[in-house]
Amino acid sequence: MRRSLVVGNWKMNGTLASSELLAKGIISGLDSNKADIAICVPYVYLPSVSELVKGTALALGSQNIADKSSGAFTGEISASMLKEFNCKYALVGHSERRSFYGDTNESVAARFSQALEQNITPILCVGETLEQREQDQTFEVINEQLDAVINLVGITAFNSAVIAYEPVWAIGTGKTASDEQAQEVHFYIRQYIAAKDQAIADKIQILYGGSAKPENAKGLFAMPDIDGGLIGGASLDAESFLKIFNSI
Ligand code: PGA
Repeated sequence: MRRSLVVGNWKMNGTLASSELLAKGIISGLDSNKADIAICVPYVYLPSVSELVKGTALALGSQNIADKSSGAFTGEISASMLKEFNCKYALVGHSERRSFYGDTNESVAARFSQALEQNITPILCVGETLEQREQDQTFEVINEQLDAVINLVGITAFNSAVIAYEPVWAIGTGKTASDEQAQEVHFYIRQYIAAKDQAIADKIQILYGGSAKPENAKGLFAMPDIDGGLIGGASLDAESFLKIFNSI
């Protein structure tokens, strides 16, 4: 039985004070360890939130990670820097990074590899745009996104990774994939991994992301290949994030 995982992606929201309040709210409302839980907070709030989550079940993650280990890369944050603040997870290849900041399949693979170097678990985000879905390219797009990483680090690296399926058309739009639509792609991803390594496919957590909220989480999480969620908007409120977590 795979353990589930619920991850909050705060994106570029909040202040230092509101971030501390939100983290405290999640910690104080957390009364179950039936699944894993983490928050990916803005870089500058990692030091203070890292102190707050110490010794609790709430794990910390970053929203991105550099594709190089150190050096003259102005504005980037390396895996070893994130490790200093106890980041357990790092999002890589979020669709907002891919579409607004030019992250390519290749740079995403390099970020994934950098995370592993520091024993940070990469959460590899994959997913198709509406146009790609309408042109029946969903699986092809996902193959390419997965292959770029597999080609660089090898399938065994997925032993310590998480995959998040996030249909781009569902992110922040209020349009969620139906339980069946999401399950279809999750099943596809697991089969794709299984063709290379069955044991990893059985074990890897595949999260759903895209307008997940308390109202639809239960149905999504009940699907056999959905092992939790990557939650954007609904993770900015402790009560709704915990409701989603408790839907596991
Ligand atoms: P959303 O974002 O839940 O606000 O749609 C999900 C994500 O981008 O990770």
